[in-house]
Amino acid sequence: MTIFSRLSIANNILHAIGLHLIEESEYSSIVGRIENDLPVALPGRGLVRGHPAAFECQIATPVQGDVDQARSSQLIALSEQMRRAWNGKPADPLSVMPEEISLQTLLDAYVVEESLHSPLGLRTVDLAPFAPDIGDSYIFLVTGPVGSGKSSLARNWIIGLDRLYGPADIQVYVFDSVAHPLAVLKTLKTVVAYSASDQQAEPLIQSLNDAMERRLEAAKSGYTEKLNVGRIVIVIDDIGGADDQLGSLSQANRNRLAPLLRRSQLASTTFLVAANIGDIYSAYSDNAIRLLKEAQTGFILGHSDDKGVLNLRLPHSEQNTALPPGEGYYVRRGQATRVKFAVPFVGGNDA
Ligand SMILES: Nc1ncnc2c1ncn2[C@@H]1O[C@H](COP(=O)(O)OP(=O)(O)O)[C@@H](O)[C@H]1O
Ligand SMILES: [Mg+2]
Repeated sequence: MTIFSRLSIANNILHAIGLHLIEESEYSSIVGRIENDLPVALPGRGLVRGHPAAFECQIATPVQGDVDQARSSQLIALSEQMRRAWNGKPADPLSVMPEEISLQTLLDAYVVEESLHSPLGLRTVDLAPFAPDIGDSYIFLVTGPVGSGKSSLARNWIIGLDRLYGPADIQVYVFDSVAHPLAVLKTLKTVVAYSASDQQAEPLIQSLNDAMERRLEAAKSGYTEKLNVGRIVIVIDDIGGADDQLGSLSQANRNRLAPLLRRSQLASTTFLVAANIGDIYSAYSDNAIRLLKEAQTGFILGHSDDKGVLNLRLPHSEQNTALPPGEGYYVRRGQATRVKFAVPFVGGNDA
């Protein structure tokens, strides 16, 4: 900070007290003009800014007592007295981020709005529920390293939506990966189709294409408002990329999917796609992956380095840090929100 900016900040502060300072010349930059001798070095003794010159002052202790310990126990007793005397609304408690966040607890406390919001976790900055609207974007990318919580986030999101909304509001298509982390979604009332492998994916992409076509036709003839068909949500776990062996979809199926991704905005459709960061950041020639990245909306989990996929820009102190599973950032057009997500939900109980 330059001397100039320090002075202009100091000029905006009307009241200032300088307690005992080793460097005597600093008093005047804090309290202004000094006429008398500098104060003796005693705890609580100092100079307070005044007119025409600074005054000497002694700060009162809030309670009686000769030693610190006596004063602090007096202070505790005093605040207890004040608490009992107060019969208005108590102050909000200062909460701390829980070790584990339960999806059930978030859902129980959630008040359903008109749009398709549902809670996924808590924002780190103020511990408020983080509850995005699945209709807010036609593509949500969920990326991060292996084990960062991508599949768990996708699964929790659909479970949450299913608890809060019905088949008239959303219809979910699931494309699961090799270890089937999304298998529990099969029985949900809002899930209309499930594919367990790349072979099963092909006919499912076809029927999804038909469903989207019907919507686009209806939209063309202006029927969408009246149809009130809800939103199609497509969940894909580990879509794959540079290495064709690792993902749920082969290159051929990703190519079939690309035109659907391109039209999703028009067909009230949202793609929620988990992808390993290592698989996708270098997959430039893959049309489906390119479209996923173009949307610039999604999550980076487990590490603050998104390799430029979502253009996450962070303060220096947060750059390049590993985060525990289930922690990361929601990024939407360059705006980042740090979130801790709910622990994976299994069956009727939390894991
Ligand atoms: N929100 C979370 N809070 C705590 N632990 C989590 C959370 N999400 C995931 N985990 C843990 O991390 C492990 C890996 O999660 P998973 O969703 O399979 O990661 P990925 O799909 O990115 O490989 C899970 O088995 C779970 O124990
Ligand atoms: Mg996974």
